[in-house]
Parts: sequence; structure tokens; C-alpha cells
Amino acid sequence: MAQLWGGRFTKETNQLVYNFNASISFDKKFYRQDMEGSIAHVKMLGKQGILTEEETKALVTAVKQILQEVEEGTLEISHQYEDIHSFVEATLIDRLGDTGKKLHTGRSRNDQVALDMRLYTRQEVLETDSLLEELLQAILTIMDHHVDTFMPGFTHLQKAQPVTLAHHFGAYFEMFRRDRQRMQDIYQRMNYCPLGSGALAGTTYDLDRNYTAEILGFDGPTLNSMDGVSDRDYLLEFLSALSTIMMHLSRFSEEIIIWNSNEYQFVEIDDAYSTGSSIMPQKKNPDIAELVRGKTGRVYGALTSLLTTMKGIPLAYNKDMQEDKELTFDAIDTVKGCLALFTGMLTTMKFNKERMEASAKNGFTNATDAADYLVNHGVPFRDAHGIVGQMVLYCIEKNIAIDDMSFEELKAISPVFEQDIFEAVSMQTCVEKRLTIGAPGQKAMQKVIVMHKEYLKQDWKKDIPDWERALLGE
Ligand code: ARG
Repeated sequence: MAQLWGGRFTKETNQLVYNFNASISFDKKFYRQDMEGSIAHVKMLGKQGILTEEETKALVTAVKQILQEVEEGTLEISHQYEDIHSFVEATLIDRLGDTGKKLHTGRSRNDQVALDMRLYTRQEVLETDSLLEELLQAILTIMDHHVDTFMPGFTHLQKAQPVTLAHHFGAYFEMFRRDRQRMQDIYQRMNYCPLGSGALAGTTYDLDRNYTAEILGFDGPTLNSMDGVSDRDYLLEFLSALSTIMMHLSRFSEEIIIWNSNEYQFVEIDDAYSTGSSIMPQKKNPDIAELVRGKTGRVYGALTSLLTTMKGIPLAYNKDMQEDKELTFDAIDTVKGCLALFTGMLTTMKFNKERMEASAKNGFTNATDAADYLVNHGVPFRDAHGIVGQMVLYCIEKNIAIDDMSFEELKAISPVFEQDIFEAVSMQTCVEKRLTIGAPGQKAMQKVIVMHKEYLKQDWKKDIPDWERALLGE
């Protein structure tokens, strides 16, 4: 047992209590952020004259050295410490003696952990954004190639009206773009530095919170120290956005699974992204899509868990908040893994254009267009609906598509039909005429694709300062 706070205790901590309380097994994940926070804190203490120049230099050098050794694997983060903060401080004291003991001047583990978690997740928000960007790029490439790939659009999983593959994938482009916007939004709202909040009520030292905020790449310090140590809203927002990403991925996965089935054969998942069966030699299973769909529950679970943990916690810091870490880390790693694999699966997937087109044609997806034809020739819509209903029934009995009906057969159902009906209900026309922006018509689709290409050229992350290099650089 190695802890920072033995002074007022007369008995050793019960071993089970110690283990129950300790967080090193998981908070070591942000060792880097913890040490970066310490470097910033020490530099600020030095600038403010709270530490001497020599002390500042010695501490900064030693923390950088510890960080380097941990990264290189020559220094192991030992679980004999209660948490990552204690590990760093104890190692410093070991190396610098009394100077090491000055690291924690004007700081509490409450504002320290609030900072560490924020620094860690802020970086993860950026990485999630980059993975979403790659996914969007993959979707857009497919859209670009399939503006003319006709397929049935579905409602109730029943064939409804003809669309294109570009249009169908375009819906997912919108979803993941909104997910990216959420990343940017969360980043901007969370980007305030809690360091200097102390345990809850700030400190009596003359800290320069603007300075630490700036060198850690924040837009400024948080403005209430009680909130600074106990705010976990940004985690809830992030977990909520991650849950939404998983919901989108899960819907997409479900479609891929259906499309990859023997009955549909709209797509074929690449061998590299499929798995076999130990008993059935013919099988090639869409396990990746299924696992992505399945892991959605875990991420929702993290959100529900943290919402429940935070509910009813009085101000300011309470130990409940230590529970914010494991599930958040798991959710982040899960979503990042799913995004990367999903992008890989999409980019290697083959699309069966012929199957998709045949499916659209054989599913009466042009029935609305046949009715529209009649309306354009003076038949009231309700009557047109009834006439085409009869046509569909006739086709079902004969096992043919509307396009396969002869002119005589059509005329027998309604004398309004003329030769141009065949062109009017062809897949090409049905799609081509849907020209309002957002519709699958090729011209409308191409306009949207141009807009998407422009959008992907912008990168909101490029304006973020390279604070890390500046902090660790010299
Ligand atoms: N491990 C703690 C956490 O994750 C660090 C803060 C400890 N603060 C305290 N007052 N015990 O929240």
C-alpha cells in the first residue's frame, strides 16, 4: 500500500478497502495526460514565483524523464500505488527528494483528475472525429461510383420506390456527418481547463489559471471551482454522441447483413472481413457487421451507467465520480474499433449492380410512377391508384413486372395508357425524374456529391494549436 495521505490516520487501511478504493489499474491509461498536467502546473508555479527557477527546472525535467521512461517501457507503472497521481508523485520524490514534494503545491487530486480525464477524452474526441472522416470518405467514394446503380428503396422492409445505391449510402453520409458535428460541438464546449479549482474552492496561492489553460491548449479556465472538479457533462455528451454513432453503425450493419444474405445478394463482403463456420463448410458469415451491431449495447450501457452515477451527487467532488473511467474508456475503444473495421469492410465490399436493379424492377417500385403517369393524363390520383393496384394484381398472377406488360394488356386495364408508358415506368426514368435536392435523381445526387466533396476538404481540427509539442518540446 502506497498512499499520499497517511498523516491523520493511526491505523493502516484495511487491505480490502485499499483495493476497493484504488484506481491505478485503470487510471494509468492517462499517465501521459497526468504528467502533461503536472508539467503545466509546475511551469505556472515557477512563473508565479511559487517555486524557484531551479525547482521548476528540476521538476519539469524529472516529469519529462518519467514520461519518457514509461513510454519506452523502462519504467513500469506499479500497482502498489493507489492511483496514477500517487505513482508520479512518489517517483518524483524518490528521484528529487524534497523538491519532488513540492509538485502538488496549490493542487488537489480533484482538479488533477478532472484535468486528466478532460485531456484524455478531448484527444479521443479528435480521434473519433478522424475515424468518422475516414468512414465518410469511404461512403462518398461508393456514392460517386453508384449514382446509376438502381435499387429498391424500402419502407417497412418492403420494396417501395426505386432509388440508387448512391442515394441509400447518402443517408448514412448525413448521419455520420452529424456525428462529426457533434464531436466539434463537444470539443468546443468541453475545452475549458479545470486545473486550479483545487479540492473545490480554489487555492490561496496566486495561481495563473489562464496560463495553465493556454499551455494545455484550452480556450480558458473553467469559471466555477466547484463545477470544475465535479463536472462530467462532457463525458455524458461524448457517451451520448458515441451511442448515436453506434446506433447508426448498427442500422448500417443490419442492412449489410441482410444485403449479404443468400436471398438478397446485393453485396458480397470481402473474405478478409468475413468468417467461416467450424461445422458448415459453405458458410461465410458477416461477423464484423454482427459484432458492431452487438457492441452497440455496451456503449449504450456506458451512457446509462454514468448518467445513473452522476444523478444525485451533491457538490462538489465525491468518490462516485471515479466510476466515470472504466466504462468511458471501454466505450471509446469500442467505438473506435467499430468505426475502423466498418470502414475497412465497406471499402472492400463488392456491390452486385444486376441483383439490385432486378430487385427494384421485380418489386413494383415503379407503381407510384405508373399512377403519376395516369394523373398527368387527367386521371384523378385516387382512381389512378386503383388502376395501378389492378395492374399489380394482374402482374402478380402472371409473375411479371409492370415493365413486362404488353401494350394490349395495359390498354385493357386503362385506355389512357399510350406507348410512352414504357419509358415512363423504366427504372432510369423513375429515378431520373426525382430531381428535387435530396432526391435520388442523378442530377440532384451529383450536386449533393459535389457539396460533400467540398465539405470533406474542410477540417475543423486544423486550427487546434500544437500545444503538446510546445509543452514537451523544449
Ligand atoms: N481516483 C480518483 C478519481 O478518479 C482521483 C481523485 C481522488 N480524490 C479524492 N478526493 N479522493 O476520481
